This record gives sequence, C-alpha cells and structure tokens, in this order.
Amino acid sequence: MSSPIRYEFNEARAAISDAHWNELAEPLEEARQEVFADVELFNSGGDVPQEKQPLDAGFIEFPRRLLDEYEKDSSGSLLGRILESGQMLRDELDRLVVLGIGGSYMGMRALFEGLCDPYHNEQPRELRGEIPRLYFEGNNVDNDAAQSLLRLLKTQCKDATDFAQRWGIVVISKSGGTLETALAFRLFREALEEYYGSESREATRYVVPVTGETGKLRDFSNERGYPTAFPIPDGIGGRFSIFTAVGLLPAAAMGIDVVQLLEGAAEMTERFRTAGSGDNPAMDYTAVCHLLEKHAGLKTRILSTWGKALEASGLWYDQLLAESLGKQEKGALPLTVVNTRDLHSRGQQHQEGVRDKLITNIFIEKPNDDLLAIPQVEENRNQDQLNKFAGKTMPEVLRAAFDGTNKAYADVNRPTADLFFPELNAHVLGQFFQMMMLATVLEGRLIGINPYGQPGVEAYKKNMNAILSGEM
Ligand code: PA5
Repeated sequence: MSSPIRYEFNEARAAISDAHWNELAEPLEEARQEVFADVELFNSGGDVPQEKQPLDAGFIEFPRRLLDEYEKDSSGSLLGRILESGQMLRDELDRLVVLGIGGSYMGMRALFEGLCDPYHNEQPRELRGEIPRLYFEGNNVDNDAAQSLLRLLKTQCKDATDFAQRWGIVVISKSGGTLETALAFRLFREALEEYYGSESREATRYVVPVTGETGKLRDFSNERGYPTAFPIPDGIGGRFSIFTAVGLLPAAAMGIDVVQLLEGAAEMTERFRTAGSGDNPAMDYTAVCHLLEKHAGLKTRILSTWGKALEASGLWYDQLLAESLGKQEKGALPLTVVNTRDLHSRGQQHQEGVRDKLITNIFIEKPNDDLLAIPQVEENRNQDQLNKFAGKTMPEVLRAAFDGTNKAYADVNRPTADLFFPELNAHVLGQFFQMMMLATVLEGRLIGINPYGQPGVEAYKKNMNAILSGEM
C-alpha cells in the first residue's frame, strides 16, 4: 500500500482494562468472520435467513471487482463506461447539478470538498482544470435554495450553443422514489428542457440517471430514452454506495482519480481481511469504540477533523453510523467537528462536560499546497506579538494545536485516538471510506444489530405522503 492511513489508539487503549481488551478478541474475530461469511452468502445468491435481511454486503468486494473488470476490458467494463461518461460531462458542460439525498448525496459531497479546490466554482474554467462547476440539490425541501440555483442557471446560461453556458444533471436515487430527489428532478428537468428544447439531443444527453434496476426513476429513464444511465447494484445500500456510480460518476466528471479511490478502498478491504490487531484500522477502531461505549459509557463518538476539507467526510460518517447502528434503542451518537474552528465552540464541553465522549481525530500529515508561514514584521508593527513565532508555518501551528488539545484531554483522562492521513488524496479517502463502512458493519455484527437497512426512516416518509395526499 503506497500511503496507508494509520490508526493510533494508545491514549484510548489506556482507558480500557487488559481484561476487557483480551475478552473482546474472540467475539471480534468471530464478527469479522461473519462479515466475510455474509459476503460469501451474498455472492452465492442463496436464501438469506430472515434475521439477516436485508443483507447489503455487496459493497465489500465491489471496488476490487470494478478494478479487475476494468483491467480486463477498459472500455466495456462498468468503470470504463463511468469514466467515459464522466469525461463527456466534463468536456461538454460548464455546470453540473447533482440531485440526490442521504447515501445518494453525502459521499460525493465528501469527495468534492475533500479533493477539489474549496473555491472551485468561483474559478474561471482554465483555473478549474477545464472541470465543470458543481452544485448539489434534491438533498432537502428548501424552496429558497432550489429557487436560487434555478435562477443562477437561468441568468448565467442564456446561449445553449455556447459551451461555457451549458449545464446538465446527474440524478441519483437507488429506490427511484425518494420525494426530495424526485421533486427536484422534475423542477430541474423542466428548466433544462426549456433551455435546450425538450426534443433536443441535449435534453437527454445532459441528464444522467443513476438508479436501481427497478423503480420510478428507472421507469422514467427508460421511457424518456436517456442514452446514458448507470445502475446501483442490488445488495449495496445507499450509505454504502460511494464506490458505485453514485460517487464514481460525479467524481469522474470532476476529474477525481477514481481508480486511486477504488485502489484505496480495495486495499482497505484486504487489510481488514488479513491484518492483525494493531495494524487493522477497521478492527482496532471498532474495538476501541465498542469497549469504551460498553464499559466507560462513551456513547458520543466525536469525529474531530483537522482541516476544513474533511467536514463533509465527517458528515458522511455521521449518516453511516447513525442509520446503520441507531436501531433497537442502541447505537452511539456520531458528531463531526472541524478543528481548530470548533475548539472555539464545542471544545469547552469536550474538555469539561459530561464524560460520555470518545474523540477520534483525523489529522492530515502533509498539506497539498505550498506552506504559508508567519511573516516577521517591523517591531513597531508587532502589536499582535507574533514576531516570536515568525517563520512558523501554518501546519506547524496546526500541529501544535492538535498536540496541545490531545494533551489537554489526556491531562483530565478524556480518551482520544488518532487517524493519520499521510496526505489528502483519492487513495487515502478511498481507504478511509471503506474503513468506516467495514467498521460499522463489523460493530453491527458484534452487537447483534443488522447494520443494513433503515426501517425507521420509513415512518416520516409514510406520514409525509399521507399528509400530502390529504389522508392525514
Ligand atoms: O442509506 C440509505 O439507504 C439512505 O440514506 C438512502 O441513501 C437515502 O434515503 C436516499 O435514498 P434513494 O437513493 O433511494 O433516493
């Protein structure tokens, strides 16, 4: 593995007794074996016992499968077609609207914020690497937000023959029936058809649905004859779908190295399958989180990200953990913070509040960009007294904040663990997403909760539909 992420947990481990740590070894190993037995059962296509339904274990080997197929047939494979379609969107459009919610949205948002310039949309095209601007909608029912984007498209795109004024849609919904996405799709599709002409080639070429093999969106897509549509395979649930076309197609359109992303994910699966304690981030993370929740009451899991680019990755994880394990009145509470920003908001509570929090830091060891350093100024301009730190770089200041915060927590016996990213790139994020998905499934098997499915989400949808239909 070229740049493995590292999970270091000495501080947290010190809060766990040896007896508890050792007792967990066997059940944890059994849970790991169950995860792979699930994969075998899933691959066999055999009957899934009632208590295992739904069984969405398809995500575990999917990255390797995509890569292997691509190696054998680079243009005919699914990945080859995703790359080709991503390239078409990149080459022919200047703005791309991604519609989707939950697992059909948060992964791509994490990739965009993690791997693209934070001011991407504001850059002229040549500084954007000839890559379209990206917008997200359909992830809420927010009149003003949707209206603003529609207005922006209308005012900025007036001449459809001008390449710089062309926009398109990637609409993502596994079920194809999610109201938020369906509603936004109808609105944006109408706007798009009005712009290009409903019978024009562009009206179908610049809409790419990503959806399940059956459902309302699949039906519409077939009927409308969109030339390109991608499947979300059965057996891969929404929040586990980042390495399907759900994440890969918009990522490819944004010029993200999806092969490296998949390599990172596939390598993490292999590490999870083979590595022992101490070098197995998914297993070690699960052990630490589980034991501290069970024996020390640390029911709140803070993902403490050190870098603005990681906030959406944290929110992706919030959904993953909450929807997967928040069942049967169990499941830890996930909470993402971004430091140093949130040291000035939540830090007080983490340091001195209720002792129910485990803090897992994510720290990027090497910035991608040139280093900024504190300039030395004339003494008569040194009222901020920063000359004593002159020459220190931003990463040095951040590292001091990170080490200082960890020490402050250690001094009052607040457990922390650290996930180190050697740098922030597609390969590293591929490892991270797969690690967290594996850890979540592993923990589910360990505590006897089916991590797949989200039956509780159906309640609000049912009520909302009944209210809208006048039945409630
Ligand atoms: O994890 C899940 O399955 C959910 O969060 C879904 O992704 C979300 O509800 C969106 O569903 P769909 O893709 O069917 O529109």
